[in-house]
Amino acid sequence: MSKRLILLLCAALMCGVFVAACGDDSGGGGGGGGGGDETGATEGAKVIDPSLAENAKGEVTYCQGKDTSGNAHYMVDEFNKKFGPDLKAKLVEFPASADEQRNQFIQRQQAKSGDCDVFSADVIWTAEFASQKWLYDMTPYMEDKKAEYIEAPVETVTYDGKIWGVPETSDAGLLYYNTDKVKEIPETWQDVYEQATQEGGIVYQGAAYEGLTCDYLELFFGAGGEVLSEDGTKSTFAEGDAAVKALTFMADGVKNGAAPKAVTTYMEPESLTAFQTGKYAYMRNWPYAYALNQKANKVKDNFDVGPQPTFEGGEKAGILGGHNSVISVYSKNPGGALKLIEHIGSPEIQKEYAAQFSLSPVKAAIYDDKEVQKAIPFATDLRQAITQARARPVSPVYPQISQAIYKNVNSALSGQTSPEDAVKQANSDIEKALATF
Ligand code: GLC
Repeated sequence: MSKRLILLLCAALMCGVFVAACGDDSGGGGGGGGGGDETGATEGAKVIDPSLAENAKGEVTYCQGKDTSGNAHYMVDEFNKKFGPDLKAKLVEFPASADEQRNQFIQRQQAKSGDCDVFSADVIWTAEFASQKWLYDMTPYMEDKKAEYIEAPVETVTYDGKIWGVPETSDAGLLYYNTDKVKEIPETWQDVYEQATQEGGIVYQGAAYEGLTCDYLELFFGAGGEVLSEDGTKSTFAEGDAAVKALTFMADGVKNGAAPKAVTTYMEPESLTAFQTGKYAYMRNWPYAYALNQKANKVKDNFDVGPQPTFEGGEKAGILGGHNSVISVYSKNPGGALKLIEHIGSPEIQKEYAAQFSLSPVKAAIYDDKEVQKAIPFATDLRQAITQARARPVSPVYPQISQAIYKNVNSALSGQTSPEDAVKQANSDIEKALATF
């Protein structure tokens, strides 16, 4: 065994010990996806047999975060109409917070529980879950289907050269605006904030959780920052001025009223509710908010959405999000699980996910469908946003890295720490996290 392999195995083992020790409350967003790392951390994982789906019977449980859009209920109902009563699906909803969903799944996997046959896993959890050997290796199932998918979502479910699930929906950070207050999205974030100060404000996800890491990184990447060195072993977070620049910009926004103070407690649902009062000029959110805004009386006739602007002098950097269907190795019905995953990925469900619920499709062809284009007129922009979106850093200790970012950013937003001190602290917390593997 080479020295490099031994080191990598030790790293994977330490990561495992770390997660096992603090899985209940570690709170971060997950382990990162990303393709191709040859760490060997997943050797010996269970491999799915695609033929198991053929005679599937019994019950299968699908676990995901709160079904805010209603798509999961729809999908499960359709499944039961099609395959019941011999094969039946049941939905279990976890909380809305990404961190809480991860905790709920980790608790079940640590207890080797078969509660969730299929889990809707955030794109950032692939590396962590796969190296814990909690997921079936789905490569044999995905091999001949891969080409139908957009590359970015497939990359998020690839780790250690294998594919650990099936892309379900994608996501990219977008900017919604109230057309009574704003006619179009200006060129830069600086202009957006300036307008927001005059026209009622901007809301986003500012609570201390994964969503804030996304919102902050959009400005940080836009300002030219990188979180980790290319080999993923060192923090480059505080190099240059991007981290302080982005954080000062956000904290000033809260201080001078471009964003309400309450934003420091907002996750996706709270920012959506705030925008739907009609009071605010802008909202940063994911595509799902489009369909829900269309049903909200005070904004349904006067909102629009577009890609995010650039950070002055920098680039556009909407974050790539989304979810993958993964099968738990503790499932007592992997055949039924596979059947459910096939159903989620079917053209009928993928099309309804986009047309009824404005969830971003993972297959390129769905964006060109006439009904989808009619239901979500920004389909072409959306596809481009997904293709160009920036992934979050890939590391086995991503949960701790994300936590280092969102805790310190939140502390600066709520005025408890200066942006400079918050960046220093975040950098040292990231270094500490990296030192554990
Ligand atoms: C959305 C994204 C997911 C992200 C989360 C943060 O659900 O799809 O990738 O981690 O929001 O709140």
